[in-house]
Amino acid sequence: MKKIISAKENISASTLSSASPEEELLFTSLRASRWEDFYGQDHIKESLRIAIDAAKKRKEAMDHTLLYGPPGLGKTTLSHLIAKEMGSNIRMTSGTALSKVGDLAAILTNLEPFDVLFIDEIHRLPKAIEETLYPAMEDYALDIVIGKGPSAHTIRLDLPKFTLVGATTRLGLLTGPFRDRFGVVHRLDYYLPHRLAQIITKAAKKLGVPIDTDSAESISKRSRGTPRIGLKLLKRIRDYAQVKGNGKITKEMVEKALDLLKVDTMGLDDNDRRLLVMMIEKHGGGPVGISTLATSLNEDPGTIEEVIEPYLIQIGFMKRTPQGRVVTDAAKKHLK
Ligand SMILES: Nc1ncnc2c1ncn2[C@@H]1O[C@H](COP(=O)(O)OP(=O)(O)OP(=O)(O)O)[C@@H](O)[C@H]1O
Ligand SMILES: [Mg+2]
Repeated sequence: MKKIISAKENISASTLSSASPEEELLFTSLRASRWEDFYGQDHIKESLRIAIDAAKKRKEAMDHTLLYGPPGLGKTTLSHLIAKEMGSNIRMTSGTALSKVGDLAAILTNLEPFDVLFIDEIHRLPKAIEETLYPAMEDYALDIVIGKGPSAHTIRLDLPKFTLVGATTRLGLLTGPFRDRFGVVHRLDYYLPHRLAQIITKAAKKLGVPIDTDSAESISKRSRGTPRIGLKLLKRIRDYAQVKGNGKITKEMVEKALDLLKVDTMGLDDNDRRLLVMMIEKHGGGPVGISTLATSLNEDPGTIEEVIEPYLIQIGFMKRTPQGRVVTDAAKKHLK
């Protein structure tokens, strides 16, 4: 049987997106800690800040918030910023880490008023945990079953008013009732190159690496609209420039380093090319159904649909039709 893998695990299987523990530390150190340093996604920032201000005025917790979208666009960072703006603590966990109702109960009862509970990969929460969260979200209450069999009864514990922030790459896997319990729901979108260039320039500054505008733009065009990938490429290019040059990041260094990493001029990596080439060679360019694609590539259909494909559609290399996916002429030209 084929192993079902999450988008995240799968992404880390690819050359480009895998992050070593050292790189994770780098991302944490580069994480925007002020709203001013979080570039782009303006309407999301604005609407979050309004929700936070309103909550503070009413002396209530901010509404439960759901952030979704492809990996690496800033969901974790935004949740930290929410906690900071609320002046509260953030407690981080994930849908895979929370397997027992007791663990969730321990976390919830230890929260302070207005704290943020961040659950990453929230689509992977077990059903029992999800159902325990319903009264916690709606009434700030925890229903605990005591005893077994006929003598079992439920007691209700009051919880502090808290904010649940959920993050997911797979909105479609959340049940309707769960989704409905989030008052604020935002989809994060890919960043435009000029925004990414800002993020990259700022990070280079923090790292103390000299970089010119041209080079920052050239990296940003090859980062799939994703800050996490942009920062990762920046780090690899920094290494390259230190070893092969004088440490300064120039356009030439960018090009050579990225060629070595097999990231092409459109930011496509091996996974993307494999998908497109397979569609062209095996299926005449399409239309091909998602399940056929998944089988041929030995990938989880969800990963193709929510991680690989959105970027290819965004840059006009692939189209969704009622009959299936089609490779566009632009992609064929690019792949020659
Ligand atoms: N808008 C932004 N401005 C500045 N830096 C950003 C922005 N978005 C993301 N980053 C940086 O990119 C890195 C990845 O962001 P983050 O971890 O928040 O993404 P994520 O959506 O939680 O990703 P994942 O789905 O992989 O968990 C962090 O170092 C973060 O600071
Ligand atoms: Mg994250």
